[in-house]
Amino acid sequence: MERELALEFARVTEAAALNSARWMGKGDKIAADDAAVKAMRAMFDTVNIDGTVVIGEGEMDEAPMLYIGEKVGSGKGSKVDIAVDPLEGTNLVAKGMNGSIAVLAVAEEGVLLHAPDMYMDKIAVGPGAKGAINIELSLEENIRNTAKALGKRVEELTVVILERPRHAKQIETIRKLGCRIKLITDGDVSPAVATAIPNSGVDMVIGIGGAPEGVLAAAALKAMGGDMQGRLVPEDDYDLERARKLGITDINKPLTLDDMVKNDDVIFVATGITDGDLLEGVRFYPDRATTHTVVMRGLTGTVRFIKAHHYYNKKPKYVKMQG
Ligand code: FBP
Repeated sequence: MERELALEFARVTEAAALNSARWMGKGDKIAADDAAVKAMRAMFDTVNIDGTVVIGEGEMDEAPMLYIGEKVGSGKGSKVDIAVDPLEGTNLVAKGMNGSIAVLAVAEEGVLLHAPDMYMDKIAVGPGAKGAINIELSLEENIRNTAKALGKRVEELTVVILERPRHAKQIETIRKLGCRIKLITDGDVSPAVATAIPNSGVDMVIGIGGAPEGVLAAAALKAMGGDMQGRLVPEDDYDLERARKLGITDINKPLTLDDMVKNDDVIFVATGITDGDLLEGVRFYPDRATTHTVVMRGLTGTVRFIKAHHYYNKKPKYVKMQG
């Protein structure tokens, strides 16, 4: 993929974040998501790609925009597959809490796993622990192996996990081992990406979250040389059918990073909506709004953080605050 595209995609997540951030703390996660989707969809049309959404807002009959299979871009440039989550952490924005992002990943056709919208059990680590994780081993073994690879004692490891009743046993195990633990209420993409960022304070993310979010995190970890494994967790026959429709025949198969993202010609972009470990949230000023975006290119491993100032008088369509 042409490297110029990386900046074009930053514009796309910036637009989603700017539009969605207006809804911070207003208690309306649907409106916050809708704002992100509309802005992302509109900005995509300005990018010279022949894009197909492979991970998006749902299937064609479930989502009006950015649905799986939807064509995005001008139709003129490279043929690419796109995974999007215009607002990752809808509750976080609705409540004004930390950790929400607008995020996307782009790769050549067929590179990204077409993950169905169901749960996935995940383990994510940064480059220092590449090769040390195995989803078929116990949580204790994975934690010990990760600590060893990172040259840390188990007590020095910080593990992030979604605070959910389904994780009670894992949380107990992690606490018994003596690791530091960070419970999050939502948004497991951002901490998974943070495992690969030096000094982020996050060593490992484990637990069950969304499968689409899993592939997005995998794209970032692929680009930065981190590691991730997963396994789909279907809840009913409908999930099994959805997976089958997307070509997944063995639902229990452990998924390696290479299964989720087949090569490293991948671009990952995320813009903070509310503040987080990885990115600052959108700030509004009388004349402008600011965004903070991370852009990663797998081919070169370059990671860029972009702080952008968007002046209302120059681009009122995307940055003017409502009301
Ligand atoms: P939304 O942005 O769709 O609200 O999802 C946020 C999220 O917390 C993801 O980060 C996570 O993977 C998933 O939901 C967890 O699902 P659940 O809330 O059902 O446990």
